[in-house]
Amino acid sequence: MPRHFLKLSDLSAAEINRVIDRARALKAQKAALPQPFAGKTLAMIFTKNSTRTRVSFEAGMAKLGGHALFLHGDATQLGRNEPIADTARVLSRMVDAIMIRNDSHRDQQELARNASVPVINGLCNLHHPCQLLADLQTWIEHRGPLAGKTAAWVGDGNNVCHSWIEAAKLLGFKLRLACPAGFTPEADLLAWAGNAVESCADAASAVRDADLVVTDTWTSMGQEKEEAQRLAAFAAYTVNAELMALAKPEAIFQHCLPAHRGEEVSAEVIDGPQSVIWDEAENRLWAQMALLEFLLAA
Ligand code: CP
Ligand code: NVA
Repeated sequence: MPRHFLKLSDLSAAEINRVIDRARALKAQKAALPQPFAGKTLAMIFTKNSTRTRVSFEAGMAKLGGHALFLHGDATQLGRNEPIADTARVLSRMVDAIMIRNDSHRDQQELARNASVPVINGLCNLHHPCQLLADLQTWIEHRGPLAGKTAAWVGDGNNVCHSWIEAAKLLGFKLRLACPAGFTPEADLLAWAGNAVESCADAASAVRDADLVVTDTWTSMGQEKEEAQRLAAFAAYTVNAELMALAKPEAIFQHCLPAHRGEEVSAEVIDGPQSVIWDEAENRLWAQMALLEFLLAA
């Protein structure tokens, strides 16, 4: 059975730390990288837009001597209703790993159940685990070990937030959430995380004395029709300089990108000295190279 990475908790804490350590080593090595993926191909299925995920997987495979194949969902036979299970069986005969960005986590599980090669979640309705590998790597690079630290998530209790919840539970830091009513994370996941995660009444209580502040778009891909309603619901949840000032002076700011300046974050914060967003985006590359090495060796 191949190892899959559909959610962060598909890896143990020790394995996540190992992948992050390896990502940092690859990043330090940069010029003289090993070529373990010579002759290997990653198929990448996208039914949603992407800049970072697509480019980081494709460039990462190339850097390690392999090849990545971009498949736009609608341009494959999936777009004409070929079963995802059949797609999994066919791709498994031809490629060494499959990455998928789509809406349905259930479809990803169906793909993984029928694949004989590793399947990686490049974002779905429920999780964005690859993002968290990069976010955690970036946090560690800037501020050292995570145990005992506090992160504050401000905004939508969405896919990225769900992966942050898993990270807090697995890696032993505290996550404080400020999400408006109606936009809170999945109750099952919150129950699973227990006291690793604390739900706060407002953004200020979540951010006070935090070591890291993180947010994401208020309108995720596929929710465009809800935009006006969401803008109204999230009006008190902008991460601006006044809010950031409540965090520790050495606190850093993260955002998975793409960002909407003036909505979930002010330009002053995202383009300011506490923001680590460009390192965070770059680390998608190194973290996923390490993840691919780990999964293909498993
Ligand atoms: N953060 C992230 O996943 O970016 P893309 O949508 O550009 O892949
Ligand atoms: N929550 C966002 C993340 C984009 C990388 C979305 O799902 O669109």
